[in-house]
Amino acid sequence: MKALVLSGGAGTRLRPLSHGLPKQLVPVANRPVLFHALEALRSAGLRDVGMVVSGEGRPIRDAVGDGSRFGLAVTYLPQARPLGLAHCVAIARDFLADDDFVLYLGDNVFGEGVSAPLADFRAHRPAAQLVVRKVSDPRQYGVAELGDGGRVVGLWEKPAAPRSDLAVTGAYFFTPEIHRAIAGIRPGGRGEWEITDAVQWLVERGADVRATVLNDPWWDTGTVDDLLDCNRAMLDGLEPARRGGVGPGTEIRGPVAIEPGALVEESVVTGPAIIGAGSLVSGSRIGPYTALGDGCSLVDSDISHSIVLDRATIHGVGPIRSSVIGRAGDVRRAAPGRRTHTLLLADDCRVELAG
Ligand code: TTP
Repeated sequence: MKALVLSGGAGTRLRPLSHGLPKQLVPVANRPVLFHALEALRSAGLRDVGMVVSGEGRPIRDAVGDGSRFGLAVTYLPQARPLGLAHCVAIARDFLADDDFVLYLGDNVFGEGVSAPLADFRAHRPAAQLVVRKVSDPRQYGVAELGDGGRVVGLWEKPAAPRSDLAVTGAYFFTPEIHRAIAGIRPGGRGEWEITDAVQWLVERGADVRATVLNDPWWDTGTVDDLLDCNRAMLDGLEPARRGGVGPGTEIRGPVAIEPGALVEESVVTGPAIIGAGSLVSGSRIGPYTALGDGCSLVDSDISHSIVLDRATIHGVGPIRSSVIGRAGDVRRAAPGRRTHTLLLADDCRVELAG
C-alpha cells in the first residue's frame, strides 16, 4: 500500500497566503498543515509516499526532504500545471505501479487520522473507498449519495442542488482499477481531470465503490475559516511548555507553549497559545487560540483566535481577532496625530478596519 499526497494546486481560495507559500506549508499550531498529514499517514502504518508538487516544488522539498524524519520515504512527482486530482494520479502511474494506494490531499487534516478508514478498506478491498462526512453546506464539496451497506450510488462535484449532505473528504483509497477509470474520463467543466468523475465511472460500471462515514473532525484548510478552525482544534491538544523566558508583570493562564529564545514580559497570555522561538511579546494580551510564529514582535497589542506567521511585527494594535498575518507582515499604529491609514498591500490582501 502506497500513499499519494497532493501538495500542488493553485490555492486560489487561500490567496494572498498561497502567493508566497504553498498552502500545504501554512502553519496550524505552528506546524505546516502538510506535517500533520504526513504524521497521520505514518501512524496509519504507511511508508512509501509519492508527493505531487507544483513545478519543481522547491519549498515542499526543502520542508519535507526525503521524508525520513517522518519515518517515510518520499518520491517527488512534479506537476507542471494544476490539472486536477485525477491528473495527479495519472502522472504518478509509474510510482504507484499496480499497488493499492491512498490518495491524500495535502491540505486536509483528519482529527483522528486515517487508520480507521484504512482498516475499512483493507477489510473489503473495494475498487474505491471514499471517506465522507456530514457538512452543513455540501454545495462547495464533492457530494456522495450512499445506498445499502455504505455503497456509493452517485457522486457530484460541487452540485447546485446536492442529493445528500455527505461531503467527500480528502482521503480516497483505491485499487489499481482507478487507472482504468481515469483513462476513461475527460476533463470536466473546470478544465480539470476530476477524481469524482473517475469514481463515478467505476460506479456506473458496477464496480464496488464504498464510503466510510466519518464522525471525527476534519478540515480542508484550503479556506481561511477552516484554517483558523483547524488551528483552534490543534491548539486544544497543546502540551504546555516553558522553553523561553517569562519576564516580570506577566500572567500565563491555561496551556501555553513558549519556545526557545522567546521572551514574554508585562503581558497576559491566555492559552491555548504558542509563542514561537525568538519572538518578543511585550505589554500585550495574546490568546486564546493564537499561534505566533518564530521571530515575531508583538508589542502593546491584543490578539486572539489568530495565526501569525514567522517574523511578523504587530505594534500598538488591537483587538485583532480571527486573522491570519503572513510572513514578515507589519501591522502598526500610526504616529500620534496622524488621521489617515497607510497601506502597502500585496495582491489579493483583505483588510477590515474597525471604528
Ligand atoms: P483543491 O483545494 O481542490 O484545489 P486548489 O489547490 O487548486 O485550490 P483552489 O480551489 O483554492 O484554487 O486541491 C486539493 C489538494 O490537491 C490541495 O492540496 C492541492 C492539491 N492539488 C494538486 O496537487 N494538483 C492539482 O492539480 C489540484 C487541482 C490540486
